[in-house]
Amino acid sequence: MDFSPAMITALRQASHIAVLTGAGISAESQIPTFRESHTGLYAKYNPQELASPEGFRKDPKLVWEWYAWRRSMVTKAEPNPGHKALVDMEKHAKNFTLITQNVDGLHIRAGSKNVLELHGNLMKTRCSQENTLVTEWEDDKTIPPKCPTCGAFLRPDVVWFGEKLPTIPLQKATLAATSCQVFLSIGTSTIVEPAASLPFLALHQGADVIEVNPEPTPLSKQVAFTLRGAAGIILPELVQAAWGLGG
Ligand code: OAD
Repeated sequence: MDFSPAMITALRQASHIAVLTGAGISAESQIPTFRESHTGLYAKYNPQELASPEGFRKDPKLVWEWYAWRRSMVTKAEPNPGHKALVDMEKHAKNFTLITQNVDGLHIRAGSKNVLELHGNLMKTRCSQENTLVTEWEDDKTIPPKCPTCGAFLRPDVVWFGEKLPTIPLQKATLAATSCQVFLSIGTSTIVEPAASLPFLALHQGADVIEVNPEPTPLSKQVAFTLRGAAGIILPELVQAAWGLGG
């Protein structure tokens, strides 16, 4: 792909690069996205029923099993060239913040260091009452399993619809968006708040915003640079164009 020289210069000169990723970056690791009508998880399940406190109260077993299915898919998945290119980008950037809406943990498994998981992590479990992280529990075959301390149901440590995002990662993400020189928005439909506002915050404070997505989003018309295509192809090429062979 031919990249604009201005974009390459902006990347090289930035003292802080911030990146927001969504489900699209993990699509090439065979993890379905949420909103692409035929393949997305949301085509098969109603997210309001599954990914919400109300849904969990109504049918905790169904919700636990849906997440168990997603966990097993993530366990089998591997980080792809898009995740790996962001590891390389972090090594070249002076300051680098990787903000992700993904709960699959693939950025951390790929080797990214400064990662803010805005929506939690599928592989972690917490008590639905006490909100404490729980790593071990008795397997008495009840689904969901119960908290060893208080006996309430355990739940995945992810953010559900209607729930607040974790305060510190959100504060750090907002600070990164409002102080970076370059902001990349990668593989996200840019519609779920508050994450969807981050690239707009970056735009308004004067950062160069680059979108990487095969499809247009509400952000597309406002950004300086649009890279249409798969993150796993574009990002390695971009890192190579900005910083040279081998990323
Ligand atoms: P979506 O499923 O809404 O959007 C995925 C985006 O990835 C779309 O814009 C696709 O065009 C794009 N895409 C697909 N394949 C791609 C590829 N190979 N490379 C680059 N982009 C690609 O997923 P999110 O924007 O992440 O929240 O959704 C945001 C949040 O909505 C999720 O974190 C989840 C959901 O509700 C919670 O569960 C709280």
